[in-house]
Amino acid sequence: MAHARGFLIAGNWKMNGQSSDGLSLARAVAAGGKGRKADLLICPPATLTKAAADAVAGSGVAVGGQDCHPAASGAHTGDISAAMLADAGCRYVILGHSERRADHAEDDAAVQGKTAAAHAAGLIAIVCVGETEAQRDAGETLSVISTQLRGSIPAAATPENTVVAYEPVWAIGTGRTAIPEQAQEVHAHIRSELAQSFGGSGLQNARILYGGSMKPGNAPDLLCQEDVDGGLIGGASLKAEDFLAIADAADALM
Ligand code: PGA
Repeated sequence: MAHARGFLIAGNWKMNGQSSDGLSLARAVAAGGKGRKADLLICPPATLTKAAADAVAGSGVAVGGQDCHPAASGAHTGDISAAMLADAGCRYVILGHSERRADHAEDDAAVQGKTAAAHAAGLIAIVCVGETEAQRDAGETLSVISTQLRGSIPAAATPENTVVAYEPVWAIGTGRTAIPEQAQEVHAHIRSELAQSFGGSGLQNARILYGGSMKPGNAPDLLCQEDVDGGLIGGASLKAEDFLAIADAADALM
């Protein structure tokens, strides 16, 4: 049955939000998050995770980080460990986002180390993959995605502790969305790659989110694709009304 896995609607705030605007956004999402069928998640900047977790407590909305270090602790100035995120009230962490891969030269091996650290700390890792426009134009999309999945996800990952986010780089923050059929094609490929490369752990049953200019207007058509189990939403997650409208679209399909 389509969507038997249940939807996860996740907001990636990126480097946006201070106590004033960020916490009122968290409170507005919490107020609209009660009694929903879809799971809701907000990922504020690290400085706000603890206060955001307090602000959404009891609403069913979860909080996540946007990155973590592969080590549990130690001499890594400026970094944050997965255990610290868990301690600050996070249940999830986004890893291997294309902006981190580009800005901080994170490769698949680095993402795999971070994912293992997240799992060790009891967090659910949202592992991001996606092709660039040049890779799509060269017909390399599916092979690029396969390589990223095999390299970024530890062998011991399970559907309980791992979510995959497909985010075509050319669709992030550009207003250009993958058409639903393009998204479905890649999501189905991701599921079959998870079955082939991680078959023993049942990882093909993990949730696979779409990310890249998802908005209230295009969310229903993306979310009704068989292998799209939710969204990782950047720009539209900064307005509670838009984020909750996407959650409404998910609820309507459940
Ligand atoms: P966008 O970002 O919704 O602003 O395109 C999505 C993301 O980068 O996670």
